[in-house]
Amino acid sequence: MSDPVSRRSALRLLGGAVTVATAATGTLAAPAPAVALPGARTAPDASPRVETLIGRLTLDEKISLLHGAGDPHGLGQAGYLPGVPRLAIPPLRLADGPAGVRVKAHATALPAPVMLAAAFDPALARAYGEVLGREGRALGQDVILAPMVNLIRTPYAGRNFETFSEDPLLSADLVAEEIRGIQSQGLIATVKHFALNNQEQDRTSIDVRIAEQPLHEMELRGFEAAVTAGTGAVMGAYNKVNGAWACENKPLLNDILRDAWGFDGLVMTDWFAAHSTAASLSAGLDLEMPSGTYFGGALRRAISAGSVTEALVDRAVRRVLGVMERFSLLDGQPPARPGRDPEAGADVALKVAKAGATLLHNRAATLPLTGAAARAIAVIGPTAIYPFIGGGGSAHVVPDRARTPLEALTARAGQGADIGYAMGEDLYGKPLPATSPGADFEGLRVAAGATWTFEGTLDVTEPDEWTFVIHYSGERPTVVLDGTDLFPPAPGLLELFGGGLVGAAPDGLQVRRGTLRLTAGKHRLTITAKGGAAGQLFRLRRTTGATRAGDVADAVRVARAAASVVLFAYEDATEGADRAGLALPGHQNELIAAVTAANARTTVVLNTSSSTTMPWLASAGAVLQMYYPGQEGAEATAAVLFGDCDPGGRLTQTFPASDEHHPVAGDRRRYPGVDGTQEYSEGIHLGYRWYDAEGVTPLFPFGHGLSYTTFAYSGLSVRPDGDGLAVTFTVRNTGRRAGVTVAQVYVGPSPDLRLAQARRALAGYRRLELEPGAAQRVTVRVTARSLSSWDPGRHGWVLGTGTREVSVGVSARETRLAGRGKVRSGAAGPRP
Ligand code: BGC
Repeated sequence: MSDPVSRRSALRLLGGAVTVATAATGTLAAPAPAVALPGARTAPDASPRVETLIGRLTLDEKISLLHGAGDPHGLGQAGYLPGVPRLAIPPLRLADGPAGVRVKAHATALPAPVMLAAAFDPALARAYGEVLGREGRALGQDVILAPMVNLIRTPYAGRNFETFSEDPLLSADLVAEEIRGIQSQGLIATVKHFALNNQEQDRTSIDVRIAEQPLHEMELRGFEAAVTAGTGAVMGAYNKVNGAWACENKPLLNDILRDAWGFDGLVMTDWFAAHSTAASLSAGLDLEMPSGTYFGGALRRAISAGSVTEALVDRAVRRVLGVMERFSLLDGQPPARPGRDPEAGADVALKVAKAGATLLHNRAATLPLTGAAARAIAVIGPTAIYPFIGGGGSAHVVPDRARTPLEALTARAGQGADIGYAMGEDLYGKPLPATSPGADFEGLRVAAGATWTFEGTLDVTEPDEWTFVIHYSGERPTVVLDGTDLFPPAPGLLELFGGGLVGAAPDGLQVRRGTLRLTAGKHRLTITAKGGAAGQLFRLRRTTGATRAGDVADAVRVARAAASVVLFAYEDATEGADRAGLALPGHQNELIAAVTAANARTTVVLNTSSSTTMPWLASAGAVLQMYYPGQEGAEATAAVLFGDCDPGGRLTQTFPASDEHHPVAGDRRRYPGVDGTQEYSEGIHLGYRWYDAEGVTPLFPFGHGLSYTTFAYSGLSVRPDGDGLAVTFTVRNTGRRAGVTVAQVYVGPSPDLRLAQARRALAGYRRLELEPGAAQRVTVRVTARSLSSWDPGRHGWVLGTGTREVSVGVSARETRLAGRGKVRSGAAGPRP
């Protein structure tokens, strides 16, 4: 089939502006072209085939193309559109998600997108997209609900692992290449969530108030890049933006996405994110998912009542069919589906996990493991034996396979190596002590339709803090201790989505926890479990202060007996909920402190979604950030630990030093919001830009990541390059191993602009892999867009001319070369 991407013409924005009033607040400006834009279209090109179909569709058939429905041949995907068989319009299947195809079948579980981003490698993003594209097609899907490109604004946000970075340039580059990769395989990509879904707390109600300049310079850049790359679909966000729901936000959907950027694909809602019929349709929404509350019967009634015209319906149908046509889905015989290629998927998963592995700290060459340190290793932590491959919610994937890190490390250490293991932090609990009457709570089966009850007492010998852990299938049993319901209903979304690790036991049972202080003596325990339609399995377990102390003591004993320690720490994140704090959850900080005190040659491997605080950092030998590394994560972790490859990742978000010092700390209006509204009052100072503006020292800066070798940077030259800059320098690997460096070009403010500007902003980068002694002369081109600011007075981009500081560094805080470059206004003006 022809490449659907190449059928888009390039988009150019030449300036000019209109201002559009939003429903409730002031203005959101969208640039309007002063002259005709080549290739920019405010409506899809009329396609004879699509127009003919529209002419033949009944109104009911048209309406059926504008909302989701149940799939009679359910493959377990998130959404379904039945199509119109009478006119050979095939159904559309829409599957999550960002780290692999989420259906009821095995798929390649890729590393979390944040780990992909850590590689600073758009070519790898394309390969990642190609895997998603091929697998999606092979697994019966037509649309993938990925990639997510919302910026990492708050370290607490539950979906930071599902997206790329806090920097708009990096996010834009990666989203574009991933989309090209997905769509090269014939699968329709859906960039999400448009726009400003930067947190999970109150995501379905919060009203984000943001000014024009940060909106355009920060969050929108990735979406615009997705449109330029030809994304077939855009998913509207749950939240409001400046007073109007994102899915009925005319300034966003119509004025910016359609008119200014020329997007001619389809706009769908996030799941259950529609709020209206006429307002949404006229604002530019085409498809309500996953059902038809507003775009089903209500739409029909609105047409009858005259509040919606059929022309408006046709416009949305045209966009849906237009995308289908572009992807050859209206050819009568839809393109043949390829088979899966699990080995190719696994190769990319492994490559990304190695390339995104980020070595944050490495005292006295703790890593790589060599000599005795590689032969007598204590492995500690739950994610060493329960591989934590991906996050929860719509990012969950059923992996083809996943070895445990303990297995991978043991295999890599080889015959004769002495590998000890201790759990350290017990996620799933230990069997309950004696109850009266005696009952076994380790694997109770309740038959379908039956009810099982227990009434008795639990014997507690010492006063202690107890965490009860219930593992269950079906409806959660009710467990009441001394009149207290141990597992009261969770706030909806949390229970619905669970976490990738903490919310499910290794055998797939759901898990909930409840903590109480108990006195010594007998406690009244009542349990009611219902078999439901399918029967039920459940276990009731516990951890206590005493079992925790025992687990830590075991870990310390194993650590002392070894030459080196690899301690796996976790932090579980999921959509639907933000994190409560930046500390590692549970008692992991105490565990790490105890183990590092017992053995200074301890490497902490972080299976975490986003930044964490590290009060134990000074006593740790090394810290390796592995995020959620996908199904090949164990192999990648072992390869990096033993130095078979260089840790290739760099941070794409700043790690704060504490909960008190980061861009959204201490101001509830900024985060999480007050009375349903939040202010993006940091303006353009998001992520590292805020740390620079406020003079705050982070724990680890944006761009940081260590190599096992050393690099020298030299010979900086900065030349004008059209209305951009060409930044040239030489990088030499001065060490004795092959390794990776990510050269980062930052630019300072323009003296000619009286607008807020960052002290330094990433303007280009290059990932380099160099053999020992090898050198490379590199030119990074800084585009006019990276040198431009959004002027709210002109409602358009303005080039930041004049002399600008240019630095080349290995993080936002570690500069290797510094110079200056003169930016001149070229004839063409700034380009997107
Ligand atoms: C998420 C989307 C996802 C959709 C379908 C929503 O809750 O926000 O990202 O694609 O569900 O699963």
